[in-house]
Amino acid sequence: MSAATNTFENVKATILSAHKNSTLKEKTDFYDSWAENYDQDVAILDYRAPSLAADCISSHFSGDREAAVVLDVTCGTGLVAKQMKTHGFGHFVGIDGSKAMVELARKSGLYQDLKLSMLGEEPLPVQWGLFDVVVIVGSLSVGQVPVHVVRELCKATKPGGYVCMTTRNNCSNKEYKAALESELKQMEQEGLWACVEVTEVEDWERAVSEHEDGYISGVVYLYRRPQLQHSA
Ligand SMILES: C[S@@+](CC[C@H](N)C(=O)[O-])C[C@H]1O[C@@H](n2cnc3c(N)ncnc32)[C@H](O)[C@@H]1O
Repeated sequence: MSAATNTFENVKATILSAHKNSTLKEKTDFYDSWAENYDQDVAILDYRAPSLAADCISSHFSGDREAAVVLDVTCGTGLVAKQMKTHGFGHFVGIDGSKAMVELARKSGLYQDLKLSMLGEEPLPVQWGLFDVVVIVGSLSVGQVPVHVVRELCKATKPGGYVCMTTRNNCSNKEYKAALESELKQMEQEGLWACVEVTEVEDWERAVSEHEDGYISGVVYLYRRPQLQHSA
């Protein structure tokens, strides 16, 4: 379906059709089937999470952006890398569980490397401590990436590097969001990272559930790993 013929009602029906999916495999199969229309459909939803995450990272990152290596977890078609490129970042590695999404990310030409992996079922397929920035947008929610995976995102980050995460703040995601925030705090208490910024955004994206209308809200979290301590 082309952008010119699709409507908000069609997009809503597409997304609601995925709510019956109970396994991760069913969810990524859904993304396989949605991949071709994904970019135009999320534009209809006024989906701004990729640009909000990229703006947040950009406002704190003070290193060499061209040289920085960014891990885009659940990269989808590449919307996050596209936004980060406008802020001067140039080196991206992408991971996603949907083959069709990874294929479109490859076609975008934005990624130096792409990996197909089902997070939560397989360990994050990267070397620990390698990335200047790790970003995950649009998939920290119920039925997608389990909360415990954030520990792996932290491990993948260099000392002094950043982890940027987003989640939705709507009815169906309330329990997941509470569990996520509890894990983020727990990891801060363990000294694994420090909270840099938490931004609540009212008009995150257009609501699609039967119980909500208008816009739902969402959150961008930015955490930073401690620098290595050098002894004198
Ligand atoms: C809403 S899209 C977000 C894509 C991209 N980050 C963006 O903001 O446009 C969610 C993506 O997460 C992927 N995904 C969801 N759960 C996953 C999992 N457990 N492991 C790997 N990929 C997953 C889907 O295949 C899909 O590409």
